[in-house]
Amino acid sequence: MNDIDFYIEGIQQLPAIVEKNPKNQEKLAEAFMEFMQLCHLYESAIEVVKTYLGILDSEFNMKFQRNPIHNIESRLKSAESIMNKLQKKGLAITPDNARKNLLDIAGIRVTCSFISDIYVLAEMLTHRDDFVVIKQKDYIKHPKPSGYRSYHLIINVPVYLAAQKKYAPVEIQIRTLAMDFWASIEHQLKYKPSTAITPEISEELRICAEQIAETDMQMQKIYSEINNLG
Ligand code: GTP
Ligand code: MG
Repeated sequence: MNDIDFYIEGIQQLPAIVEKNPKNQEKLAEAFMEFMQLCHLYESAIEVVKTYLGILDSEFNMKFQRNPIHNIESRLKSAESIMNKLQKKGLAITPDNARKNLLDIAGIRVTCSFISDIYVLAEMLTHRDDFVVIKQKDYIKHPKPSGYRSYHLIINVPVYLAAQKKYAPVEIQIRTLAMDFWASIEHQLKYKPSTAITPEISEELRICAEQIAETDMQMQKIYSEINNLG
């Protein structure tokens, strides 16, 4: 039994695994505890960010009678994709390696109505004095060659546990509903195992992203015009 099998079997299987491996009981129990603590830390870090985003959203609503946030989704990377990513990087599969080398175990996706909302949220998230910005990528001003647009942040978030404060990185993707529409469909099309994406199809998808970006900018303009009138 190696670490990979241990993770694949999953936590529900643990008693059976321990029984089958009487000699490794202590090591397995230790690895299991470490893995559980890691999951708890990342889930808590997600909660810290979501709570803050909720506070910002309601404050904005109180002041301006509208919400900058349309929706918030979050996910913890599955044990299987954590293992695959570590393997791809040529690293041993250990909780310690996952913590140090993978910055997207905890992920939050925020959708907004307007481009300006994205920048308001990004500004608030990066200026909190207890949040440590590890990575900041503006794929709106600088779209990816695919046409992908979003504002990406990786922030080290403090989590106050019973006996200590621990930091965990959280990847936050902030985008408009229109950008999200494109990214979801493009992802669906690209990651379908049976499809071969030709350069022509990639180009068509990129053009769609351009058109969507154009609409986003028109919406932003309309929003500004209405605001100036009000
Ligand atoms: P990963 O190893 O994939 O996390 O990439 P990275 O660390 O270089 O980060 P990057 O900012 O490039 O992308 C991270 C995430 O952004 C991905 O996991 C996707 O969720 C999203 N993303 C990036 N590029 C694209 C794209 O072309 N299409 C779609 N649909 N999503 C994208
Ligand atoms: Mg990723």
